[in-house]
Amino acid sequence: MIKSALLLSSTVALSAIIGSNAATIAPRDATCPCGYQDSNGAIWREGFNADFTQDYTAALSNFYAITSDPVTKATGYKLKYDSTNVYPYNYGMAIRTQAYSGGPGGIIHSGEIESARQDIRYGTFRMRAVVPTVPGVCFGFFTYRNNVQESDIEFLSSDPDYYQRIHYTNQPSLLNGNVDLDAVKEVVVNADLTAFHEHRFDWTPTASKFYLDGSLTTTITKNIPNVDSLLIANVWSDGEPLWSQGPPTADALATIYYIKAYFNSSSLNAATFDSQCAAAGHPAPCQV
Ligand SMILES: *[C@@H]1O[C@H](CO)[C@@H](O)[C@H](O)[C@H]1NC(C)=O
Repeated sequence: MIKSALLLSSTVALSAIIGSNAATIAPRDATCPCGYQDSNGAIWREGFNADFTQDYTAALSNFYAITSDPVTKATGYKLKYDSTNVYPYNYGMAIRTQAYSGGPGGIIHSGEIESARQDIRYGTFRMRAVVPTVPGVCFGFFTYRNNVQESDIEFLSSDPDYYQRIHYTNQPSLLNGNVDLDAVKEVVVNADLTAFHEHRFDWTPTASKFYLDGSLTTTITKNIPNVDSLLIANVWSDGEPLWSQGPPTADALATIYYIKAYFNSSSLNAATFDSQCAAAGHPAPCQV
């Protein structure tokens, strides 16, 4: 079912956060001086593996900042990201929207992490996670710069088939007020997303390719982002009836085991990368 108000997706919730949650940037991984090669043969100069099952604190603090924001909406329910809604859980990391018990228009307390790196431009991104089961939230994994430079994997826990439906979007999702079916793809997968699976997208200049457990689910060639971006994961609700719905009446949480990112950026340009690879004696790129 295509919803008629897809513009009310993560873009609304995120419009004010860039730069407000600075994190320390970890040093480059010296073990792959010639970068990473993905399953499509693409080479990526930089990478990080935030494995929350190994060392939660290091994985988070080396690569991410937890969003802690003032209220970001002035009308209707108000969305607020709190640091208490990201925490170690079930051998991994939980991102949560808290149970809401107030009346209409109150504050819905949600959770989000954003990458320390804000200069990611093209790459392959993987998240092993389970989706929230409590209705009334959107769980997103996406690159973001602004509401027309954003590539999304999203799960809506109020979808009747939430455990197997994935919403893929290159924003903007609307064209002349209608859902742009070249920019929005909904896929019902033959898997139970309440168990751990790897969700992946490859962002290149010509296509956004989306995968579940390494198998291609869909490709979007419209609205491909082309600017320096962050990588974000969040679980949020703003009560909007056509997207997140909610607010949830019980805690709604996603559990994430890892987020891996292999990418290019302007802070390690091709020439510097080539000399770093040459200085190391041209070892093969690490396979990812
Ligand atoms: C990423 O960097 C590698 C190595 O410099 C380069 O070969 C590749 O074309 C770059 N990819 C994109 C999409 O810019």
